[in-house]
Amino acid sequence: MRYADKVAMVTGGGDGIGRATALRLASEGAAVVVTDISPEAAHGTVAAVAAAGGRAAPSIGSVTNEADIAAAIATARGTFGRLDVLVNNVAFTNQPVLEGIEPAEWDREFEVTLRGAWLCARAALPHMVAQGGGAIVNIGSVNGLMYFGNPAYSAAKAGLLSLTRSIAVEYGPKGVRANMVSPGTIRTNAPSWTARLKRDPKVFEKLARWYPVGRVGRPTDIAAAVAFLAADEAAFVNGTNLVVDGGLTAGMPVMADELLAERE
Ligand SMILES: NC(=O)c1ccc[n+]([C@@H]2O[C@H](COP(=O)([O-])OP(=O)(O)OC[C@H]3O[C@@H](n4cnc5c(N)ncnc54)[C@H](O)[C@@H]3O)[C@@H](O)[C@H]2O)c1
Repeated sequence: MRYADKVAMVTGGGDGIGRATALRLASEGAAVVVTDISPEAAHGTVAAVAAAGGRAAPSIGSVTNEADIAAAIATARGTFGRLDVLVNNVAFTNQPVLEGIEPAEWDREFEVTLRGAWLCARAALPHMVAQGGGAIVNIGSVNGLMYFGNPAYSAAKAGLLSLTRSIAVEYGPKGVRANMVSPGTIRTNAPSWTARLKRDPKVFEKLARWYPVGRVGRPTDIAAAVAFLAADEAAFVNGTNLVVDGGLTAGMPVMADELLAERE
């Protein structure tokens, strides 16, 4: 019960990694505000938390809209009395390669993925500082660390790591820590995965070959990392990026095979 008496807000908490994170934090005692642009998704997670014996409240809206963000924070403070943890989990991508991206499409991937996280942090930080501390966890991606396509989204995720560090340094002295979790492939209903699955029903099985642990990730793999970073036991962890990718970015086994073959 690392989160007894704590209140968390999870953006995009209606599905995938966000839902798993809301369920995990609630299972450890947190009251959770589930924000989502989809009312059905948000209410689904709130119902799942309640069914598991936890406390949660929905807040419907977009991370790109300041009034919606203010309403979510008001829900946290009004319903549960405070705000201790913010998980910035929403992102958007639709453009697989650089060629052909229109400026408005580039801006949209940045608006949702990076600006939205900044707006949420900007709104949450004064409350965290006023109550004596808090923790922010930004959900990054291996795309922010290496090339895997989707360049606008990837650049926005790299920017999110920089934002994480800025918050860590500027707000650390005020009691607020900020960290990032960078997932590898996680099997979710995200629109980009749904589209890839339609093209290739075996896509996750194929991608699993790239993962040293032999499988792609589950939303609960990421939720566990978030639950560690936002907890008080991580009090000395600030400004870091926890890569949760089954070893995907730990090395290049195909290249290593060639190197080793050459040596023999
Ligand atoms: N799934 C993966 O393979 C993977 C890999 C690396 C990083 N990530 C990151 O993890 C995070 C979650 O991904 P996921 O796969 O769980 O996504 P998902 O699509 O399963 O869930 C995202 C949720 O956010 C909501 N949402 C979308 N736009 C919103 C907006 N503007 N405002 C509020 N809510 C909004 C959706 O309705 C949905 O419920 C993202 O930041 C993503 O970049 C995912």
